[in-house]
Amino acid sequence: MIQFKIDEERCIQCGECATDCPGGVIVLDDYPRITDEGGCIRCQHCLAICPTGAVSILGRDPDASVDLENNLPDPQALETLIKGRRTVRRYTGKDLAPELIDELLAVACHAPTGVNSESVLFTVVREGVVMDRLRCEVMDKLASLEEKGWLPEGIVAQYLGTALKVWREEGRDVIFRGAPHLLLTSAPREAPCPVQDSHIALTTFQLMAEARGVGTVWDGMFMMVLAVCPELTGRLNIPESHQLGYAMAFGEPAVTYHRTVQRGPAAVNVVE
Ligand SMILES: Cc1cc2nc3c(=O)[nH]c(=O)nc-3n(C[C@H](O)[C@H](O)[C@H](O)COP(=O)(O)O)c2cc1C
Repeated sequence: MIQFKIDEERCIQCGECATDCPGGVIVLDDYPRITDEGGCIRCQHCLAICPTGAVSILGRDPDASVDLENNLPDPQALETLIKGRRTVRRYTGKDLAPELIDELLAVACHAPTGVNSESVLFTVVREGVVMDRLRCEVMDKLASLEEKGWLPEGIVAQYLGTALKVWREEGRDVIFRGAPHLLLTSAPREAPCPVQDSHIALTTFQLMAEARGVGTVWDGMFMMVLAVCPELTGRLNIPESHQLGYAMAFGEPAVTYHRTVQRGPAAVNVVE
């Protein structure tokens, strides 16, 4: 049930909800109505586009949405956030407030998904003590693989072997960069775009984290660990039916960057 409701006192019968509906399932008779509930992708464009807040769908109250007029970030500030975001590889080790983690996830789940499947699962390590346990488990696993000579040849063995050596000799964790939290995204394999959805969700999480002063690092090293120890995805409680997207470690930064970096120009290929 998609609970499409029109407040007839507010509706000005402009038809914008019908015109914008990607499934084309809204028609304007006197007032808008849904012709085919099954064709609705639950994107809430009808709620978002209504100029008078007359449309409610999925039980959502339009008055609980944030008005966009005069409430968007200015482009310069957003540009500085994007250019000023840095990979953080030094953390204070203090746990983030659980409410802050919840807030970041609540924003990240607004990232777009293919056919609006909204099926990304956010697997999160919320507590530093759990992260410390996981860190030790991962290092133990790597040590045991190395001992048996089961680390694959080449670059993976080189990276993971070095990570293990640095952990043993210096107590330095280059797998998670000492972060107190970890986020992994996954989505059901049958979702239209499970990998893309997972990556976009992490990117969205990362930008909001940056805005909130939370450091992040895309964790390719842990992805390598998962490639050689696939059983760890079970340990992380990620459903077998899911396609893993990527991992991101995060926490309170123990480092301050003072300026943006200067990249570019963008490599552009113009189609004539
Ligand atoms: C897919 C991906 C995987 C990454 N994996 C790691 C990693 O395992 N460890 C790490 O320290 N940085 C990792 N990084 C961070 C990159 O090295 C970093 O983004 C790049 O050097 C640019 O620096 P910046 O993010 O500060 O702009 C990864 C980045 C991406 C996009």
